[in-house]
Amino acid sequence: MELIRIPRIMQDTSRGHLLHGRGIGFVPTMGALHEGHLSLVRRAKEENDITMVSIFVNPLQFGPSEDFNKYPKDTDGDADKLRKAEIDVLFMPDASSLYPAGFSTHVEIEKLSEKLCGAFRPGHFRGVATIVTKLFNIVAPTRAYFGQKDYQQAVIIKKMVKDLDMGIDIVVCPTIREHDGLAMSSRNAYLNEEERKAATVINKCLVQTTELIKSGIIDIGSIRRFMKEKLSEKPLVTEIQYASVYDPETLDELERVEKEALLAVALKIGGTRLIDNMLVKV
Ligand code: PAJ
Repeated sequence: MELIRIPRIMQDTSRGHLLHGRGIGFVPTMGALHEGHLSLVRRAKEENDITMVSIFVNPLQFGPSEDFNKYPKDTDGDADKLRKAEIDVLFMPDASSLYPAGFSTHVEIEKLSEKLCGAFRPGHFRGVATIVTKLFNIVAPTRAYFGQKDYQQAVIIKKMVKDLDMGIDIVVCPTIREHDGLAMSSRNAYLNEEERKAATVINKCLVQTTELIKSGIIDIGSIRRFMKEKLSEKPLVTEIQYASVYDPETLDELERVEKEALLAVALKIGGTRLIDNMLVKV
């Protein structure tokens, strides 16, 4: 595994591979790697000649009161995991090389970025789209791998690639969960024992809501009420930001579930914000 920190060197390395006709599979991450990230890495390895992973905690996608400064870091552990996974290149740039003084260009995906998480994290998806564009320009991947865990992010990146003719295949991979159903996330490390137990309510809510819909309850009022009641059973859930059914493409809230629907939840347990989702077919 080659470790590259300088964007220009990364770009030249990628160009070399492409000139030799090798396809590049790319997994962008913010580190503190878990099985969710590694499932994307394994998929990328299966489907491409060369596999590249980036680790960069992108300041642009964190709001002023969010957790940028305490975001979990485990550089040595991450490098070990990626070495064991036998990837070819780990790209780990410094913030100063990606955002030098005077940096002033941003990528904004209108409408989709304002919905769901966007309503609670203004500027978040602008930060994500900007860094992913930069990483795509530097790494020049053939395919890039994203998790369904961050469903809205994946939809936005697909839209960006289409609108801006980036010509990269976006592959969305299933959410990897802990044994009790909690979606793996670097942010789970913030939870204490009691909070960690309470967090299982998210997956339970999604599973039970899926069953409810499959049993024929398809109107938004009943579904929303059921989800909020279920999540509110845990007193440690301090804020439910959204919990409802959405159109999987437009992310608009549905009136009735008729075809495929996205069940999505964002809430806070103590100070920790958690998200999860599930697709339901009727
Ligand atoms: P990060 O949160 O580190 O996630 C990196 C990738 O791993 C994302 O595509 C995310 O959806 C995926 N992922 C996270 N948890 C997962 C799980 N439990 N199962 C499957 N996939 C999972 O998402 C980001 O970083 C950043 O926004 C980034 C795209 C790197 C831009 O900064």
